[in-house]
Amino acid sequence: DQDEDLKSRPPIITVMGHVDHGKTSLLDAIRKTNVTASESGGITQHIGASEVYANGQKIVFLDTPGHEAFTAMRARGAHVTDIAVLVVAADDSVKPQTVEAISHAKAAGVPIIVAINKMDKPGADPTRVKQDLTEHNLLIEEWGGDIICVPVSAKTGEGIDTLLEMILLQAEVLELKANPNRLAMGSVIEARLDKTRGPVATLLVLNGTLQAGMSVVAGTSSGRIKAMTNFKGDAIRKAGPATAVEILGLTEVPEAGDEFNAVKEDKVAREIAENRKSKLREEVMARNSSITLEQLFS
Ligand code: GTP
Ligand code: NA
Ligand code: MG
Repeated sequence: DQDEDLKSRPPIITVMGHVDHGKTSLLDAIRKTNVTASESGGITQHIGASEVYANGQKIVFLDTPGHEAFTAMRARGAHVTDIAVLVVAADDSVKPQTVEAISHAKAAGVPIIVAINKMDKPGADPTRVKQDLTEHNLLIEEWGGDIICVPVSAKTGEGIDTLLEMILLQAEVLELKANPNRLAMGSVIEARLDKTRGPVATLLVLNGTLQAGMSVVAGTSSGRIKAMTNFKGDAIRKAGPATAVEILGLTEVPEAGDEFNAVKEDKVAREIAENRKSKLREEVMARNSSITLEQLFS
């Protein structure tokens, strides 16, 4: 049985919240990077994966956009994560996409840790944030509930160590496990067609180990991994459980949200992808054949 060899694995954390409440800035402060400065219009428009070490332990972070246009990405982020970090600006409190993020996390059944950000601002009012969260059924720990709120500032670095500590504590409770010795499986985080390199996919390995040269099926696409890089863009040969990688070699662009599976032979990968494609074609034909000519030309 492939699942006999379970070992503990790093936690996958999705950072969610209303637009401009400081999700990317917070991750910049944790990673000591400056991704925020390179974003067009200061708006995150994709799911960014990165890894950090805190207390010697690896944590995988997925940054999601807060702009209202990106609901699907937030839902996807919530579904592949172990813990959602909900970022709420202390001077702005709960806003529509905060509420949306809460419902994605609840729908996915993942625990929430609240980061009350921008504590350095004069208008910061953490008590109001906690009251507003309570109104949306997040019961705050210090008021008898189980939701931990950590006041932080991406600008000054206040509270960031505590936030990481809380993430690691919560992860420990979850007892996350995976088997690094099985064929890799996981989720397509993002995918696009690069003019020169062909289909490029960001995969999040949830179980098993992905190796360069292996064949994978992702939705209706398949292929052998010709190149694999980590979140920093460094070429790597192997990616164990809870690792985000970018791969080249798929024959077509998979859909974000598709599950991927590594398979032993390229031929098998192609067959599975082809089967899925013909099933989809059959479904489309079945649907079309039930449409009358009148409907078709109306
Ligand atoms: P989207 O991804 O577009 O939803 O935004 P975001 O939540 O990632 O917010 P982002 O990191 O882009 O920050 C938005 C603005 O808030 C930027 O101008 C940041 O410099 C500012 N900001 C973020 N965190 C803090 C903070 O702790 N204190 C202060 N004063 N400003 C902050
Ligand atoms: Na922003
Ligand atoms: Mg952002």
